[in-house]
Amino acid sequence: MSSPLVLGIETSCDETGVGLVRGHELLADAVASSVDEHARFGGVVPEVASRAHLEAMVPTVERACATAGVRLDDVDAIAVTAGPGLAGALLVGVAAAKSLALGLGKPLYGVNHLAAHVAVDQLEHGALPDPCLALLVSGGHSSLLRVADVTTSVEPLGSTIDDAAGEAFDKVARLLGLPFPGGPHIDRAARSGSSVAIDFPRGLSSRRDLERHRFDFSFSGLKTAVARWVQAREDSGEPVPVADVAASFQEAVCDVLSRKAVDAAVSQGIDDVLLGGGVAANSRLRVITEERATPHGIRVRVPRPGLCTDNGAMVAALGAEMVARGRAPSALDLPADSSMPVQQVSA
Ligand code: KG4
Ligand code: ZN
Repeated sequence: MSSPLVLGIETSCDETGVGLVRGHELLADAVASSVDEHARFGGVVPEVASRAHLEAMVPTVERACATAGVRLDDVDAIAVTAGPGLAGALLVGVAAAKSLALGLGKPLYGVNHLAAHVAVDQLEHGALPDPCLALLVSGGHSSLLRVADVTTSVEPLGSTIDDAAGEAFDKVARLLGLPFPGGPHIDRAARSGSSVAIDFPRGLSSRRDLERHRFDFSFSGLKTAVARWVQAREDSGEPVPVADVAASFQEAVCDVLSRKAVDAAVSQGIDDVLLGGGVAANSRLRVITEERATPHGIRVRVPRPGLCTDNGAMVAALGAEMVARGRAPSALDLPADSSMPVQQVSA
């Protein structure tokens, strides 16, 4: 018998994602993004995102079904991001998922967005090793997690104490006059720059900081250092070497992320590191993490870029795993929880 067909809905930020998954097989991954509507504000505007989700929901569900060649009646379970994320945006997805579950008479799984970023890798590289060490880096979060079972056991080892890694990319891009979201633009600009041109600070990496914050991150000092450096250049009337600033900044972020991820894996005796979230699409992060992990016999798994950024397939992947492992569905009155703790995999 084939595995159950799970439909996943993601609306925690600015992507309306609807995915269809059977076991570890990805059948459809339809995404409608409102990113262009936020670009001129330099960040996601919650009310604009909520309205865009509302408009995109039905067409995106229809597009996913058409791509997979299935009808809604064929769906065996519905999964939805219950949190964390923007409250109004989450509400749209949760309401849509409840309506589908009720209308189709199928179970509903309200799941954690962060665990879904981990589970999505199963669609590309097969079953997750138990345990694995996940480095989740996006516009909203930067965490190191010990994942023993993605449906029940996700334990935070550390996280950012200020800005998220993606937020730092977006803010530095803005300083350099690059468009929002800045990560991909910095990544591209960095290719023609020198990563050692400017020695930007590595947050929470001094011996003293490591005593208290071994697996935590801080990016606000780095962002300020870049702002000061760029300002000094502008004040002196010299042109800002955008590629060098981008490459040196990117190196500072990736240096700290990779160093702490590998240190965490080694200290926990874990042989597999998984990168997830939008910043995992960064070309330098992947290379430097592999360089550091390989000498320790640690493998690095990274989903393809389209699965690293927010999407519905990741939610369907986690839902499918919940069904496969016989986890209980959520109640139909499940709330959207904008600050859902990372340890809580399902609602
Ligand atoms: O996971 P995601 O799509 O949404 C959130 O949950 O935040 O991540 C979006 C973030 C943005 O900050 C974006 O600038 C960053 O991921 N990003 C990148 C790259 N592609 C996207 N950062 C660095 N390098 C990239 N190639
Ligand atoms: Zn995300």
